[in-house]
Amino acid sequence: MDTANNYNYKVVKQFAIATVVWGVVGMLVGVWIAAQLAWPALNLDIPWLTYGRLRPLHTNAVIFAFGGCALFATSYYVVQRTSQARLFSDALAAFTFWGWQAVIVAAAITLPMGLSSGKEYAELEWPIDILIALVWVAYAFVFFGTIVKRKVSHIYVANWFFGGFILAVALLHIVNSAAVPVSLTKSYSAYAGVQDAMIQWWYGHNAVGFFLTAGFLGMMYYFIPKQAERPVFSYRLSIVHFWALIFTYMWAGPHHLHYTALPDWAQSLGMVFSLILLAPSWGGMINGIMTLSGAWHKLRTDPILKFLVVSLSFYGMATFEGPMMSIKTVNALSHYTDWTVGHVHAGALGWVGFITMGSIYYLVPRLCGKQEMWSVRLIDTHFWVATIGIVLYIASMWIAGVMQGLMWRAVNADGTLTYTFVEGVKATYPYYVIRFGGGLLYLSGMVIMAVNVFLTVRDGTAVEARIDAVPARKAEELKAAA
Ligand code: HEM
Ligand code: HEM
Repeated sequence: MDTANNYNYKVVKQFAIATVVWGVVGMLVGVWIAAQLAWPALNLDIPWLTYGRLRPLHTNAVIFAFGGCALFATSYYVVQRTSQARLFSDALAAFTFWGWQAVIVAAAITLPMGLSSGKEYAELEWPIDILIALVWVAYAFVFFGTIVKRKVSHIYVANWFFGGFILAVALLHIVNSAAVPVSLTKSYSAYAGVQDAMIQWWYGHNAVGFFLTAGFLGMMYYFIPKQAERPVFSYRLSIVHFWALIFTYMWAGPHHLHYTALPDWAQSLGMVFSLILLAPSWGGMINGIMTLSGAWHKLRTDPILKFLVVSLSFYGMATFEGPMMSIKTVNALSHYTDWTVGHVHAGALGWVGFITMGSIYYLVPRLCGKQEMWSVRLIDTHFWVATIGIVLYIASMWIAGVMQGLMWRAVNADGTLTYTFVEGVKATYPYYVIRFGGGLLYLSGMVIMAVNVFLTVRDGTAVEARIDAVPARKAEELKAAA
């Protein structure tokens, strides 16, 4: 193998396949807990399968296993192609793959056992946290080491987003996971009371901003221009977008703690920064969508482009809805209701899911020496099944959420509550069934993808791509054309 003159596609392929496998697993657990909310007996009276244990398994599996593997795969591919250099270290890259899989397996065992630090999106206990930190430092070495040895002077904008994501996640994870261990499986947070809550939601919101957004914007800036065969609409906007987004996100966390013991000024600060966040978010979305100028007709025939572009519409929706929900009076209605869950999944299924699926469909044939996926029609089928699934999911949760909020606050003339809590639960029942149906469709789409990827990989060969001057020139052209 000519490692000096070739790109490292092996680790990219491993992560790409892992993305699909964990996508199916994580979404299956999502469908299972959605079913439990409609039919609680489905926990089968087995502690391992109770809702409280499977819910964090779902969030960890979809965010860190499915989303995380997709981020590793795409960032490793993009940084090599746009730097015209092989990854900094094959051994470290392999360590990030196997280390990350070990983290996922450890999560899949400990969470159903009920072992949890109790912090949302940071539930894993301290030994696993240490492994995450080690893998992440190795990731940073591989990524930035590749940037350092690049053969083109320019650092393409996608790498700025991937780099920002890697640095911010290291900071967030290390600060929020600080804890005092009392045994191998139990620890207590290093922070107390409202400080603990603020650090947790500084982490939680930036997990959204950096894990679920910045890295995926890196995908957007590479795969949309590539698939559309058009330069980025405005390169200048992409740079402004980057700095505005990373600066603003860091301050928005307190919107998760409205009407709590957190000082009022901090809540208002979080609200104001969340409102400002609309601007960079939409700037990025517009930059992505306008990249299609002159190539709109391709949407008729190219299902990969459909995934990539529709993901941006959902990104725009979620980043409009989020700032609205951060307004304290709106949050007074939406908080604790399924409206939040609807918002989450507009972002998660529509934005994170679709940009990932589009990018992986782009990558897999190239990593297997094929012209295209085993079946392009199946990509189209996946797109439509999943789109209908998302619409059912988020529409049912919006209706359920607003209904719950209104029922909980309704009062009679004498000041007593109009509805008991259980009446609200009963009224939500049909929407939980519809959400289950939407989730099932979305999962079916993911299974279709898994079959298509399996057949493409099976028919393919191991690819050795030579590092040549073409991709770098392309990056310079993309920039110059903007
Ligand atoms: C401008 C961008 C955004 C803003 C200002 C924003 C704002 C908000 C607000 C106000 C909440 C409700 C907090 C509460 O009442 O507890 C929320 C929840 C959430 N949002 Fe967003 N959002 C944005 C974009 C996104 C995107 C793109 C995603 C997903 C990819 C996302 C994922 C989430 C998640 C996971 C939660 C639930 C957190 C939890 O309570 O567990 N958000 N967001
Ligand atoms: C088949 C697809 C999916 C289904 C059926 C599904 C279902 C669910 C259910 C039932 C919950 C619990 C809601 C509650 O406690 O009331 C949930 C929570 C969550 N899911 Fe999913 N999910 C799916 C895919 C995804 C994906 C792909 C992501 C991320 C990329 C994701 C991220 C989340 C997050 C962050 C939460 C926590 C929300 C919060 O605390 O407000 N889900 N999901």
